[in-house]
Amino acid sequence: MIEWVAHRGESADAPENTMSAYKLAWERGVAAAELDVHLTKDGQLILTHDADTSRTAGQKLIVKDSTVEELQKLDVGSWKSPKYAGEKMPLLEDVVRTIPDGRRLFIEVKIGAEAVPELVRVLNKVGKKPEQTPVISFKLDTCIAAKKALPKVKVYYLAAQKKDKQTGKWSPSNEELIALAKQHGFDGLDLAYKGPIDADFVKSAKAAGLDVLVWTVDEPADARRMIEAGVDAITSNHPAWLSQQVK
Ligand code: G3P
Ligand code: CA
Repeated sequence: MIEWVAHRGESADAPENTMSAYKLAWERGVAAAELDVHLTKDGQLILTHDADTSRTAGQKLIVKDSTVEELQKLDVGSWKSPKYAGEKMPLLEDVVRTIPDGRRLFIEVKIGAEAVPELVRVLNKVGKKPEQTPVISFKLDTCIAAKKALPKVKVYYLAAQKKDKQTGKWSPSNEELIALAKQHGFDGLDLAYKGPIDADFVKSAKAAGLDVLVWTVDEPADARRMIEAGVDAITSNHPAWLSQQVK
């Protein structure tokens, strides 16, 4: 069965990476949600996709140079809709606490391995089951450090494969990604759906003991193609709606 994942929460209808976006995802019965974290100046993991707040708050604070107190004065809801005026940037621990039993929260660490000690502290403090808080990252050093520090937590390496216009070859290739994930003991790959993902690839990954997850799928035709390829999870900005379209 496909696991549907709410990208940055139910971000089509609520401001991304806010408590409202996760509340909506859980209320709509989505199996999992995804979020992005950066470290603040005072060493806490806070939800934000970008390294600064200009896009979501309309004023620019650099997250790594700002304290939680400074960042949480910003309104990161109004840009989406006046209905969400006053939404604050949540801390990772606040969202982890909301995960309902039996569901998962994919934690995308946007920075390097220096984030891992704080990640370990938060997960130990909140005390959810390890299977509920998989870690994903485009940063190889972060994935390696997370797997080492949190062996019971699933770690999926994120990649966006690019096609060379001249040779037609994808980089990294499917074979390279499978080898890399195996080498470091990761649990699977989380890939851009526009890459070379088909049934042969998913079969090879599964034979290597890896899960295959894809992002960010918003159209029914793309979701159907991924389901036919046999992927384990689909990340979408509106998973509750999309899952109904492909039933
Ligand atoms: O789920 C993975 C996906 O979130 C990666 O892309 O840029 O939306 O963080 P991005
Ligand atoms: Ca993300």
